[in-house]
Amino acid sequence: MTAPLVTRVSRADAAAIGDAVRCLKAGGLVAFPTETVYGLGADATDGRAIARLYEAKGRPAFNPLIAHVADPAAARALARFEAEAEKLAEAFWPGPLTLVLPKAPGCPVAELATAGLDSIAVRVPHHPVAQKILAAFGRPIVAPSANRSGHVSPTTAAHVLADLRNRIDLIVDGGSTPVGVESTIVACLGEPMLLRPGGLPRDDIERVLGRPLAEPPAGIATTDDAPLAPGMLASHYAPRTPLRLDAKYVGAGEALLAFGPRLVAGSEGAAIVLNLSERGDLIEAAANLFSYLRALDAVGAKSMAVMPIPHDGLGEAINDRLARAAAPR
Ligand code: TXA
Ligand code: MG
Repeated sequence: MTAPLVTRVSRADAAAIGDAVRCLKAGGLVAFPTETVYGLGADATDGRAIARLYEAKGRPAFNPLIAHVADPAAARALARFEAEAEKLAEAFWPGPLTLVLPKAPGCPVAELATAGLDSIAVRVPHHPVAQKILAAFGRPIVAPSANRSGHVSPTTAAHVLADLRNRIDLIVDGGSTPVGVESTIVACLGEPMLLRPGGLPRDDIERVLGRPLAEPPAGIATTDDAPLAPGMLASHYAPRTPLRLDAKYVGAGEALLAFGPRLVAGSEGAAIVLNLSERGDLIEAAANLFSYLRALDAVGAKSMAVMPIPHDGLGEAINDRLARAAAPR
């Protein structure tokens, strides 16, 4: 379907920044340095680009991504800041701190990037190359660490190339990253909670807050491959309509989440049909997944039939998410 990709590597000069911005605008994948680690960037408002990003990383599940912006003002268009979040942003941005906040109404970030959550992770990096790309692009950029899923985070362009050669469009080489570990993640959805220790020490954060950070419940780690357990954060999104997976037919009045060119039997009687991808493209299906789940849920049908989705490529992550959505609550 897509032509084989050849990854370009460019020294981080003005031409490379321009190239990076053009590439992001065209839905491409660009690795660039931040002060913590190299990120793999995609346009945060472009669901298809984000689906390609998950595929390039080989993530077995849709873990939510961090939206990077050039300055705190841009962050306010994405998320709601209460008093403590405001304090932390003022004290530590730009810098190696990620805040998980309630999504703002009208937040332009694609549903896939936040994996259907009502919260969003936001960060303002201070690395000059990241800053220049963000300022010139003028939109939020999602950027997980630029490694294959399960590998360690890259701190040089060579690390990125070793993991992602010919899976992404461009690597902007800005030398090795100064901090070398990922950003510290603090959720401000209630009591500020440390979700991931990182480049900004806990003590600095607690000093500004004037109180200790809450700990996540025991046994819950926030890592690339182990997304937060559903229900850990009150804002976790799950459809209210019961899901029926691998449906071979759709009953009268059911909502149908379809996939591929041929619908299952009974679709004329369905309350609503949304097709993740008529041509059976898993990238397109991933880009549509969360918004279609929401739209079907809103109809209030007694149940939702989900057609079988192949398990290869992004299908694994799509099926992982559907299985969670179908689990009894
Ligand atoms: O330093 C960093 O943060 C780097 C650079 C590139 O900015 N990025 C990075 O992204 O480490 P990633 O995707 O490798 O890790 C982001 C973490 C994941 O563990 C994810 O589960 C968590 O952030 N996360 C993102 N959105 C979240 C949300 N709404 N609620 C809770 N955790 C979230
Ligand atoms: Mg990572």
